[in-house]
Amino acid sequence: QKNVGILAMDIYFPPTCIQQEALEAHDGASKGKYTIGLGQDCLAFCTEVEDVISMSLTAVTSLLEKYGIDPKQIGRLEVGSETVIDKSKSIKTFLMQIFEECGNTDIEGVDSTNACYGGTAALFNCVNWVESSSWDGRYGLVVCTDSAVYAEGPARPTGGAAAIAMLIGPDAPIAFESKFRGSHMSHVYDFYKPNLASEYPVVDGKLSQTCYLMALDSCYKRFCNKFEKLEGKPFSISDAAYFVFHSPYNKLVQKSFARLYFNDFLNNTSSVEDIAKEKLGPFSALSGDESYQSRDLEKATQQVAKHLYDAKVQPTTLLPKQVGNMYTASLYAAFVSLLHNKHTTLAGQRVIMFSYGSGLTSTMFSFQLREGQHPFSLSNIATVMNVSGKLKSRHEFLPEKFVETMKLMEHRYGAKDFVTSKDCSLLSPGTYYLTEVDSMYRRFYAKK
Ligand code: ACO
Repeated sequence: QKNVGILAMDIYFPPTCIQQEALEAHDGASKGKYTIGLGQDCLAFCTEVEDVISMSLTAVTSLLEKYGIDPKQIGRLEVGSETVIDKSKSIKTFLMQIFEECGNTDIEGVDSTNACYGGTAALFNCVNWVESSSWDGRYGLVVCTDSAVYAEGPARPTGGAAAIAMLIGPDAPIAFESKFRGSHMSHVYDFYKPNLASEYPVVDGKLSQTCYLMALDSCYKRFCNKFEKLEGKPFSISDAAYFVFHSPYNKLVQKSFARLYFNDFLNNTSSVEDIAKEKLGPFSALSGDESYQSRDLEKATQQVAKHLYDAKVQPTTLLPKQVGNMYTASLYAAFVSLLHNKHTTLAGQRVIMFSYGSGLTSTMFSFQLREGQHPFSLSNIATVMNVSGKLKSRHEFLPEKFVETMKLMEHRYGAKDFVTSKDCSLLSPGTYYLTEVDSMYRRFYAKK
């Protein structure tokens, strides 16, 4: 198969959100800590009527409807999520309701879980299937769905929530360059969820930041090596138009891009300007470990790479800054932001993606973008996703109401025998919502 990749996309995020500025004041953090320090604008969250299952039901039905896809045409469905609900029963099986109704139960695939990486694992599974001898000619469908919530404290402002659905097949406008993948996988305890009675993770914030940057370096080196082997010339930042990162919060994305620039400097690639070489010279002798701890290096690289960040990364940051960390959906929401901002000029461009999941698993891979044919064209995808419309129709909560919602959700997590308020007044038509969890923990949903 040629040009296997993403044919169509849709995104859903809760309409309920809180401004980071308000949360900052409420938490007693110093002014600017969340907005400038973390680089975040706003945080979306699920109220008691929404969860990862309802959001994924909404994203999948919306994609099928808006692109005119018959549910019988789906042959594989893969879900990436780190939000555990039934442990042994996959989120994929809930989504089967949509397909069973149309008489299609012949759909392979289950859930993939490893922190924020599950969506990428699901995506690779679907792409590999379409490229394999077991492909039956139907579409693959990938769903990334997560609700990122943290206990009160420094990590709470890095929450978020969203679901993204992606249709996979040949002749895609967003085509994989599968030959160039570089991965780094290792055993660390930077972020994990050992307490099954709580939705909140155990996080070693500082360690997770360093792990992320080390994984990035490692993946970039492998990606560059594979590129050079196959293309016969070294890879540098100038070989791609855009760089899309998993985005726990924007500041880490700024640091990540600067780190790639530092790698290019160490590799002595021609893309690094003389003035930058001068500024970074003093840091060339740092050991790897020292380089992760050096604040001066961080500042110097961010400064010399700033103009490239503005051109190659900034257009990808809209949704991650407005919605927050969406875990498995985060990287793809950053890519959605790029489509939203640049769909008219993307054809013919290469885009680099960096996926990171704590624990840890990480891969750098790339897309080659093509105009595509309606309805699978870059411009139609941007129109269908209607990012501006979705952002505009949100409802801002006050911090007290947000905290109250988090408390109620703590109570509801793992609980049985309750009905929700069924108040879906804030949801737009077509949105699924949770109505009840019965005495056997069975969950019931309705569509507005
Ligand atoms: N104005 C401007 N900037 C400020 C202010 C202020 N008033 N106050 C602090 N800052 C800056 C700090 O200097 C720092 O920036 P820097 O890193 O460039 O120095 C930034 O704001 C954050 O401040 P810290 O004191 O480092 O924040 P803290 O340690 O309280 O929490 C953390 C940050 C660790 C990221 C926390 O939010 C967390 O644990 N998040 C979850 C873990 C996470 O997302 N890890 C990323 C990879 S793993 C994953 O995806 C889940």
